[in-house]
Amino acid sequence: MTTNRDIAEATIVTFDELGPVGLIAIDNPPVNAISHSVRLKLVDAITRAEKNPSIKALLIMASGELFSAGADITEFGRPKAAPSLQQLQTRIESSPTPVVAAMQGLALGGGLELAMACHYRLAHKNAKIGLPEITLGIIPGAGGTQRLPRLMGARAALDMILSGTPVPASEAKAKGLVDEVAEGDLRDAALGFCKRLVREGLGPRPTCNRTVMDHLDETEIAAALLPHARALKGRTTQDLVVEAIKACKLPFSEGIAIEAALAQESLASRESLALRHVFFAERKSSKLSGLSSVNVRKAHPPAIQRVAVIGAGTMGSGIAIAFADAGLEVLLNDNDPAALSRSREHVRSAYASSVKRGRITEGIADERIRRIRNTVALAEAANADLVIEAVFEDIELKKDVLSKLDSILPPQRLIATNTSTLSVTELASATAHPERVLGLHFFVPAHVSKLLEIVRTNHTSPENLATAFRVAKLLKKVAVVSRDAFGFIGNRMMLDGYFREAEQLLLEGATPTQVDTALESFGFGMGPLGVSDLGGNDVGAKARVQLFKRESRPDPYFVIADRLTEMGRLGQKTVRGFYRYENGSREAVSDPELISLIEKLASERSIARREINDQEIVERCILSLINVGAMVLDEGIAARAADIECGLEQRLWIPTPPWRADVLCRHVGAFPRVAAHSPLS
Ligand code: 3HC
Ligand code: NAI
Repeated sequence: MTTNRDIAEATIVTFDELGPVGLIAIDNPPVNAISHSVRLKLVDAITRAEKNPSIKALLIMASGELFSAGADITEFGRPKAAPSLQQLQTRIESSPTPVVAAMQGLALGGGLELAMACHYRLAHKNAKIGLPEITLGIIPGAGGTQRLPRLMGARAALDMILSGTPVPASEAKAKGLVDEVAEGDLRDAALGFCKRLVREGLGPRPTCNRTVMDHLDETEIAAALLPHARALKGRTTQDLVVEAIKACKLPFSEGIAIEAALAQESLASRESLALRHVFFAERKSSKLSGLSSVNVRKAHPPAIQRVAVIGAGTMGSGIAIAFADAGLEVLLNDNDPAALSRSREHVRSAYASSVKRGRITEGIADERIRRIRNTVALAEAANADLVIEAVFEDIELKKDVLSKLDSILPPQRLIATNTSTLSVTELASATAHPERVLGLHFFVPAHVSKLLEIVRTNHTSPENLATAFRVAKLLKKVAVVSRDAFGFIGNRMMLDGYFREAEQLLLEGATPTQVDTALESFGFGMGPLGVSDLGGNDVGAKARVQLFKRESRPDPYFVIADRLTEMGRLGQKTVRGFYRYENGSREAVSDPELISLIEKLASERSIARREINDQEIVERCILSLINVGAMVLDEGIAARAADIECGLEQRLWIPTPPWRADVLCRHVGAFPRVAAHSPLS
C-alpha cells in the first residue's frame, strides 16, 4: 500500500525537462531542509540530467515560500549518510552542465551553501539570504566559510557569518553573492536566465576555482568581531569561524578540509548542543499540540486585526508598540489623560531610538505611531478582536476592568490580563465568560523581551488558548504556557530557585561580590544581586507582597532584599542596595554596612555563617533552578519541559552564556529531581 509518506518521499525532489533546461525542484515541507533524502535525490536528478544530451542547463528551485532553511538539523549528531552536503556540492560544482540556483523567501545555512556551489545564482527581490549557523553554535560547514569569501570577499563574508543575519537580495547582489535579482515571477526569470546561458554558450563557473580578492589581518578581524562582542559574549563559535575564514586563502581543497574539521569541533561543542536544544525547545513550546489536555481540533482561533490595550503605563505602552510593530491597529486606553500623554511621549521616544539606531526609517516609525490610537473611553474597545488589560496590579481594580470589558465585548473575544502576580482564575471570575480570560504575561520592555507567558486557568477554552498562540506568533515571541499558580513559571523559578538561593548563600556566609563573581565567571551576564540592584529591590518586594496573598513561603525568604527595601536601599537608583554606587557610577562597590546587616539577619535566624566557595555558589544556584523546574513539572504548572527551558532561556541568559541549556535546561526535562544543597530539594 502506498502511504502519504511514500508519496512525499517520491516528490521530495522532482525533475522536469523544459526544452534545454532541466528543472530540479525540491519540495520538502515545511522548510525544504536539505535532508538525506533530498541530497540523494538531487544527485540522482543531476546524474539523470547529465545523461540527457538535450539538457544544456540545470536549474535548482524549491517549492513553497522559502528556498531552504538549510541542512536538516535533526540529522546532526547521527552518523553521516552519503551523499553528504559536501559530496553533493562537489557533484554540482564539477558538473559539465551549468547549474543555476534560484532562491525565494529564505535561503539559509546549507540551503545557501548549496546555492553557492551552483555555477550561477538568482534571487527573488523579496528573498533573504544568510548563514545563521552561529546562532546554533556551529560554523557553516558545507563550504560556507570557503565559498562565501570567494564570492564576496573575506571581510564581507566574515561579517555575514558572525552576524548570522540574512541580507536582502539587493544587498546580496551588490556584494556579488547573487548574479541577478528577479522582480517578477522567479521561475520565469530563472528559466529565461538559463536559456540565455545556453544561447550565449556560458558554461560552468565553479566557485571553488575563484580566488579570494582581499586579505584579512588581525586588525581587520578584531574590527569585524567588535560589533558582535555583546551578542557573542561567553561564546566560542566565533573563534572557529575566524579560523575557518583565515583558511580561505589556501587552495580550496585545503581550506575545505580545515573547515570540515572545525565544523566537526563546533558540532561537538556543549555550546552547540545547548543552542540546538533551545532551538527545538522554542519550537515545541510554541505549539498548542503538545498540551495533552487541550483538544486542538476544537481550536479555530479568529483572525486578529485590531487590539485594545487597557492601561497606558510602562507595560501597556510597550505592548501597544509590540502590536504596532506587527502591523496591527492598536487602541490604547487609560482613564488618566496625563498617563496617555506620557505614553505618547514614551512611544515616540521608543521609535525615535529605533530610527536613530538605524533599525527602521522615519517613515516606518511614523506609520507605526499612527497605528496606536489613544482614548480615555473604554467603550471603544468593543470593536477589538482581542483586549489586553495592563492597569495597576490591584485585584479589585482589575476585576472591575475585566467585568466592564466582559459586558462590552462579544463573548467569543479573548480578554487577557498582563498581571504578573495575581490569580488569573480569580480575575476571570469577575466575568460571565471565564473561558475567554487568560494571562498574557509580557516582560519589560514588552516590545523587546521575547518571552510571552500564556497563563491558562481551568476554564480557558482551546479557542482562546489557540488565539494566544497566534498572538505570540504575530509578535514573534517565544510562547510558554503556564498553569495559573504562584509566579507562573518564570517568576516561580526565579523566586523559589535562583534568587532565593543567592540570598540564602549570603545568610550562610557568602558576600554579594562573591556570589555575583562566581556566577559571572560561570557565564551569567550579571550576578543575581547586581541584577536586583539594577531593577530595584523594591520592585521584587512589591511583587512578593502580592504573590504572598495567593501562597506564602517560610522564613527566610528574601529577608535581606525586604530589609533593604524598608531601609530605602533600593539599588542603583538610590546609590545603595546590595552594593554601594559612588557618584552616579554603575560600578558596584562592596559595602561593610551590608555585611553587618546580613550577619544580624543570619544570627536572628540562628544561621551559622561559614566560608563558602565558588563551586558551592554555582552548584546551589543552578541546581536550585533545576529542582524548582522539576517541581513545576511535577505539579503540572508546566505541561512540557520545553516550556520551562524557554522560560529560563529568555529570562536568565542575557547575554548568552555557552553552557546554558546543556547544563541546565536539558536536565530540567531529563531528571525527575536532582539532589541539591538547597533546603527546597
Ligand atoms: N532543519 C530541520 N528542521 C527545521 C529546520 C532545519 N534547518 N528549520 C526549521 N525546521 C523545522 C522546525 O523545527 C519546525 O518543525 P516542527 O513544526 O516540527 O516544530 C518547522 O521546521 C517550522 O519551523 P519554524 O516553526 O521555526 O517556522 P518559522 O516559519 O517560524 O521559521 C525559519 C522558519 C526562519 C526557517 C526557522 O525555522 C529557522 O530559523 N530555521 C533554522 C535556520 C537555520 O539555522 N539554518 C541553518 C541550519 S544549520 C546548517 O545549515 C548547517 C550547514 O552549514 C551545514
Ligand atoms: P503602570 O503603573 O506603569 O501603568 C498602569 C496604568 O494603568 C496607569 O497609566 C494607570 O493610569 C492605568 N489605569 C489605572 N486604572 C485604570 C482604569 N480603570 N482604566 C484604564 N487605565 C487604568 O503599571 P505597569 O508597570 O505598566 O504594570 C501594569 C500591569 O503589568 C500590572 O498588572 C503589572 O503587574 C504588570 N506587569 C508589570 C511589569 C513591569 O515590569 N512593570 C512586568 C510584567 C507585568
